[in-house]
Amino acid sequence: MKVLGIETSCDETGIAIFDTEDNSIVSEQLYSQASKHAEYGGVVPEIASRDHLKKIIPLLRLTMKESGLALEDIDGIAYTAGPGLRGPLLVGASTAKSLALALNKPSVGVHHMEAHLLINLLENPPPSFPFLTLLISGGHCLLIHAKALGQYEIIGQTLDDAVGEAFDKVAKILDLGYPGGPKIEALAKEGDSFAFNFPRPMTDKDNFDFSFSGLKTAVFYELKKIKKVSESQKADIAASFQAAVAETLLSKCQKALIDTGLEELVIGGGVASNEYIREKLVTGLSDKRIFFPPISRCTDNGAMIAYTGSFYIGKKELDNDLKIKPRWPLSELDHG
Ligand code: KG4
Ligand code: ZN
Repeated sequence: MKVLGIETSCDETGIAIFDTEDNSIVSEQLYSQASKHAEYGGVVPEIASRDHLKKIIPLLRLTMKESGLALEDIDGIAYTAGPGLRGPLLVGASTAKSLALALNKPSVGVHHMEAHLLINLLENPPPSFPFLTLLISGGHCLLIHAKALGQYEIIGQTLDDAVGEAFDKVAKILDLGYPGGPKIEALAKEGDSFAFNFPRPMTDKDNFDFSFSGLKTAVFYELKKIKKVSESQKADIAASFQAAVAETLLSKCQKALIDTGLEELVIGGGVASNEYIREKLVTGLSDKRIFFPPISRCTDNGAMIAYTGSFYIGKKELDNDLKIKPRWPLSELDHG
């Protein structure tokens, strides 16, 4: 079966085709709008919707061309139904539904965070259920006991800012631009992670929840204390902030692995592309098996949607409803 996947939940337009026979992605295209939003310091939904509209068909054509397949060869179409921005989601969903209707093929709305999780199953060797999952993206910070396909118990989450959001806000405070994660990671390489002692929020609490807004505020006040910030001080702040995030994530994962007795940790979402955080988790949890997607599949992409769709597409009736769910808790999956 060949499944076409369409991702448009935020500021990346991603299209890919997954082939269940070879268990591989046949072709994929990704376009990031990040530079269009940079001057506003964050994603502007209206600009995002318009840009998806402009790019989605050319990217679809390129993906088809690269695959050597015709649209008629596609067996089903998966699209991100949520969570995400309403306008951008509608662009992907309506494109998917129109194609499905025209081709008389099934379509399925995929949960974006489930896709960030499941893409790890394409690793060789793959993790096997049950496992612990840490999803760290621009909108989420979730610790999940993944019991089986579609059965995800959220055991911890952020009480305020998501991890990627904290990276983006700290980057804004440091005047580094958007998206903040990669900029902070690059600058941190030149800095001293011990220069500032930022808090490791909630690591003293006996639960698996997170809170990153206080950490961001701590960075803000530290910066205010310095009269004229030098480039090397900025790098020290970036490195110390990144270390505080990494140690906080490590501490919560350690606790959750002990508490659940799980042996495997699966990590996903845009922040999982941060090599410092990857390294901290791997060395800190050396007695466990840790899984990450390749860096290019940590941030939003069409491959994860096509792959996730392949689990559900055969099970769904062909339906004509255009359903998007901008707010969709992972605990409320209804397909399967
Ligand atoms: O998963 P994703 O592409 O989109 C959402 O579903 O939110 O994640 C985007 C987030 C942004 O906040 C971005 O700053 C962060 O992931 N990010 C990073 C890195 N690359 C992207 N954060 C830290 N280090 C990185 N290298
Ligand atoms: Zn994402």
